[in-house]
Amino acid sequence: MPVIELKKGKTYKYCTCGHSEVMPFCDSAHATKGGGKPILFTAEKDGDVALCGCGNSNNKPYCDGSHAN
Ligand code: FES
Repeated sequence: MPVIELKKGKTYKYCTCGHSEVMPFCDSAHATKGGGKPILFTAEKDGDVALCGCGNSNNKPYCDGSHAN
């Protein structure tokens, strides 16, 4: 559950392949290593947001508390 400061209106690429070196964001490693494609999302407000770090959230890129189950 990394808490990341996002900027309203900015579009981010959330890594789903697990190969990025700048997690939780995509660094395009999926293009050569495979395993998935990024989720594009736009921040709705400025401030800290909990993003999924365990891969189990049903609301990626956001944390839904699944890591605690
Ligand atoms: S590096 Fe993982 S989805 Fe792009």
